[in-house]
Amino acid sequence: MCGIVGFTGNNKAAPFLLEGLKKLEYRGYDSAGIAVLSGDKIKTEKTVGRIKSLMEKTDNGKTVDGNIGIGHTRWATHGAPTTENAHPHLSGNLKFAVVHNGIIENYSALRQKLIDEGVAFNSQTDTEVVPHLLQKYYNGNITETVSKVMGLLEGSFALGIVCSDYPDTLIAAKRFSPLIIGVGEKSNIIASDVTAIAAVTKDIIYLEDDEIALLTPSEVKVLDTNGKTLNKEITTISWDVSAAEKGGFKHYMMKEIFEQPKAIKQALSGRIKNGEVYFENFSLTKEKLKNINRIVIVACGSAYHAGIVGKYVIEEMTRIPCEIDLASEFRYRKPIIDEKVLTVLISQSGETADTLAALKEAKSLGSHIVSIVNVVGSSIAKASDDVLYTWAGPEIAVATTKGYSTQVAVLYLFSAFIAKALNTLDDKTITDFLNDVKELPEKIEEILKEKDAIKELAKHSVNDSSLFFIGRNIDYAVSLEASLKLKEISYIHSESYAAGELKHGTISLIEEGRTVIALACCETLKDKLLSNIKEVAARGAFVITCANEGNTDFIKESNEMIYVPKVNELLIASTEVIPFQIYSYYVAYYKGCDIDKPRNLAKSVTVE
Ligand code: F6R
Repeated sequence: MCGIVGFTGNNKAAPFLLEGLKKLEYRGYDSAGIAVLSGDKIKTEKTVGRIKSLMEKTDNGKTVDGNIGIGHTRWATHGAPTTENAHPHLSGNLKFAVVHNGIIENYSALRQKLIDEGVAFNSQTDTEVVPHLLQKYYNGNITETVSKVMGLLEGSFALGIVCSDYPDTLIAAKRFSPLIIGVGEKSNIIASDVTAIAAVTKDIIYLEDDEIALLTPSEVKVLDTNGKTLNKEITTISWDVSAAEKGGFKHYMMKEIFEQPKAIKQALSGRIKNGEVYFENFSLTKEKLKNINRIVIVACGSAYHAGIVGKYVIEEMTRIPCEIDLASEFRYRKPIIDEKVLTVLISQSGETADTLAALKEAKSLGSHIVSIVNVVGSSIAKASDDVLYTWAGPEIAVATTKGYSTQVAVLYLFSAFIAKALNTLDDKTITDFLNDVKELPEKIEEILKEKDAIKELAKHSVNDSSLFFIGRNIDYAVSLEASLKLKEISYIHSESYAAGELKHGTISLIEEGRTVIALACCETLKDKLLSNIKEVAARGAFVITCANEGNTDFIKESNEMIYVPKVNELLIASTEVIPFQIYSYYVAYYKGCDIDKPRNLAKSVTVE
């Protein structure tokens, strides 16, 4: 989820590239760079941090000569946010510069092959294989060369390329990552989305998968990978730039809710091979895992809720006892941790002070640390023995959605990884489980289609002063997250209860009209949950039940039903949470709350 731009025209390229990158900063902002071709030399400028630093370094682009160039704002996936890892990346002979958005899944093998052939790499990125491959296969014909290299790449990519043999031609290509072409008067442009182009032109061409574009200041040519010229339609659109940044949604939160299928695909990307899990650069071997007698998961807020899901799944699949603790409690309770305990930290930002402190505590007691983190190069990632990145892309809304969902997805992979290493499940069960995991993005897409129905239902809670979520097993874990989502953005008091626990005191709060939302996707326990629903319904509660499609058991006792597609029972958190993210969003929306920036909250909690 990085931002890329490219320019070829009669004016200086650098000022346009920097302005374009500024518009794309919401896509990633840990480092940035530009490469501009002047004569037959490619000049690059890169900085760590925001585009502002790059603008300062180049006097808003004035110090960089040349009318053709590419730029990139990065959200690190492979390699920390450093100048070396910032794009553009160059070929060894300095003939090619490349910017890339996406993930090249087979980069490890490609990189190793190139290293064996004597190629020197300057970064840890997946992207850098591309300029080296362009150099290797260059035959004087740029289209043929790009096409050949595309044939070698697996995964997703949008590429912007300049080549010193083509002093006015900007080259672009894509597969599974977005790339558009802006058709101007005396300039033509590429960008990962319209926001970077809006100031210059309203005429755009959408590049499709496996297409290559050659842009000069006066012409745009789009070819297929066999070199055949394609007839592409120019679309004229009217832009609302801020809406475009939010992908047409009113708030980042809804945009991020809708990004979840893609984010989960990214979290799984390259990690399931031949029916088993593969983690790159992972030092926790089978031998080390055999010595582990307990797993302790530590996190805060929604990440803690993801951890609770993880506890259920890990224990079920691996039979290793798994504890879950709040980071703010963990280090002040003299935790019993030694080298036989595996500590798993979960954090979207990777900067949460309590989680970082817990990490240090566990490490000092000899525990191996695995962290599940979104932000590459963050403090938690750096301090861990192993990091499993969630690759969700930047999460802007304070209330997490895709952050949580990708944490849960990575926990599924981690559970399957341990189960395979320790042989606690047979190969077929693991393969079937992973196939079910791979289907989740599709199932979530189906739920997202129900947005309007959930929006209507959300009207019910606008006047609630307090409500309850109940569930058992993983339904309970999800109810904690659903309840937090609702209260943090709509400011309505809400509590989550393990359904069987209500009658031990809290049921006294159930009265006529009190909303109780029952999560009922865990069908093994449906009879037990039904009894709990009857208990609250008998006391006048307004019951909304979320169940699997086709399950009619709860209709009689419920005032309203929400259905989600049935999935493997260990994976219900991924589907069941979605309607309640949307429900919470709309309750807050109807109440006129500041959805992306709820009161009193911050995205990254760096104080204890
Ligand atoms: C809730 C939310 C918070 C975070 C918590 C931990 O929507 O976002 O509860 O989950 O502050 O943050 P990270 O995951 O960055 O450690």
